[in-house]
Amino acid sequence: MQFSVKTGNPSQLSTPCLVVGIFEDKTLPELTSSLDITGKHFISKVIAAGDLEGKIGQVLLLQRQEGIKAQRILLVGCGKEKDLDAKKFANILRNTFKSLQTYNLAEAVICLADIAIKKIQVKRKAELLARTFVSLQYRYTTTKSSSPKQTPFAKVSILLTDSKERTQAAAGLQSGQAIGNGMNLARELGNLPANICTPTYLGNQAKKLGTKNKSLNVQVLTEAQMRKLGMHSLLSVGNGSAEPSVLIIMKYQGADAAQQPNVIVGKGITFDTGGISLKPGAGMDEMKFDMCGAASVLGTMAALCELQPKINVIGVIASAENMPGGKATKPGDIVTSMSKQTIEILNTDAEGRLVLCDALTYVERFKPKTVVDIATLTGACITALGSVVSGLLSNDDQLAETLYQCGLDSLDPVWRLPLWEEYQEQLKSNFADIANIGGPKAGTITAACFLARFTKKYKWAHLDIAGTAWLQGGEKGATGRPVPLLMEYLLNN
Ligand code: BES
Ligand code: MN
Ligand code: ZN
Repeated sequence: MQFSVKTGNPSQLSTPCLVVGIFEDKTLPELTSSLDITGKHFISKVIAAGDLEGKIGQVLLLQRQEGIKAQRILLVGCGKEKDLDAKKFANILRNTFKSLQTYNLAEAVICLADIAIKKIQVKRKAELLARTFVSLQYRYTTTKSSSPKQTPFAKVSILLTDSKERTQAAAGLQSGQAIGNGMNLARELGNLPANICTPTYLGNQAKKLGTKNKSLNVQVLTEAQMRKLGMHSLLSVGNGSAEPSVLIIMKYQGADAAQQPNVIVGKGITFDTGGISLKPGAGMDEMKFDMCGAASVLGTMAALCELQPKINVIGVIASAENMPGGKATKPGDIVTSMSKQTIEILNTDAEGRLVLCDALTYVERFKPKTVVDIATLTGACITALGSVVSGLLSNDDQLAETLYQCGLDSLDPVWRLPLWEEYQEQLKSNFADIANIGGPKAGTITAACFLARFTKKYKWAHLDIAGTAWLQGGEKGATGRPVPLLMEYLLNN
């Protein structure tokens, strides 16, 4: 998809389709009004006839009008002007894309940047447009022998009222496109079945990204290398699997090497059967999505490579397959982590924290500015927060506040849960330094408390994306979250 910025009179643009907004309260946005006047009030007539109220979700396609060069005009409902916010704007963009797709249009000029939204600049509007269009274009087809044809969207322009906004709009389109592509990569990896998307496959994807981009250095540690480092907690998770575990390290360098990096760490369980603490059968297929944290790290690194910002970011993925088997870890087994803390594995289904803790110790060597881990860690997080927000837990109030705000700004929200000392008690073990489960209460918090024992040396936040990383039911599939949040955070902090 090609994005560009245009300025000038909307009536003079030759395009298969011009998209303009209509408010519900009878006033017209600037560009719509200008078009209406040139076109002998054809829009006002449509509204007066009651053919379009302007509610969000409503659209109307008109053929060529006198005095207007565009072949078609798509009127898009934008709701009430005073109610508009970024969330509603994204909704309007989704409706626009879907209508254009319904009419098989591959090219359009979008005149929606003129809609004023409180506290939203043109850069953000352009970014949301590109991100929405790119991510709506994604279809999973890889393992289907035939897939329905669809006209790929070729060219999208946004028309501005003020040519001074050109640079900002172009920058927004560029980052939106990179974020959209990053989300789509994360979704594709999440959607791939676990017999294709193994830890080795994830390692190869990372290496491929590194080969394509000079600014990205990729290293994939083998089990033997991890054993030397003492990562016995991570290694214990893959014991029952025929697939070797890996630790993937991706270093994106856009700034001076002396500048401290922000580090992101993803849980990459390519399939989670629960191990010997076997999960029930119903819906177990969804545990192929248990690497969505890792996928979001790969998607984010890919987006950074596309945008080339002047920052340093290190992405780390701890990847294993959690299977039962003759060599599998058993409940009650005790392992020594890289940090030398011993762990009693009371439940082999609490495996995410076991791979993450060693990765979190490993990243100390980078002297990170901050570390954010991303994991489909607990079913309890879905119970607590559903699928609207991701869980956020942190040992640093300022980092938590920043991530919260980034979540709102990028429409990829998170909500903080307390990471208080009192909860640590639930992780007591009679036989090791710490147990890997904390009982039935506050499961998301005790999982984060476990991780907190390994993150004392830096500012750290944990994102539990169990409820937000994929959709269930008829629309089953990975969402690409929280790539938008991570990009927002990394680019602005
Ligand atoms: N990957 C799961 C968490 C999960 C479950 C995410 C369902 C999304 C949907 C994780 O490894 C797990 O099994 N967690 C256990 C922890 C428990 C054994 C303490 C859980 O949430 O039940
Ligand atoms: Mn599990
Ligand atoms: Zn898991």
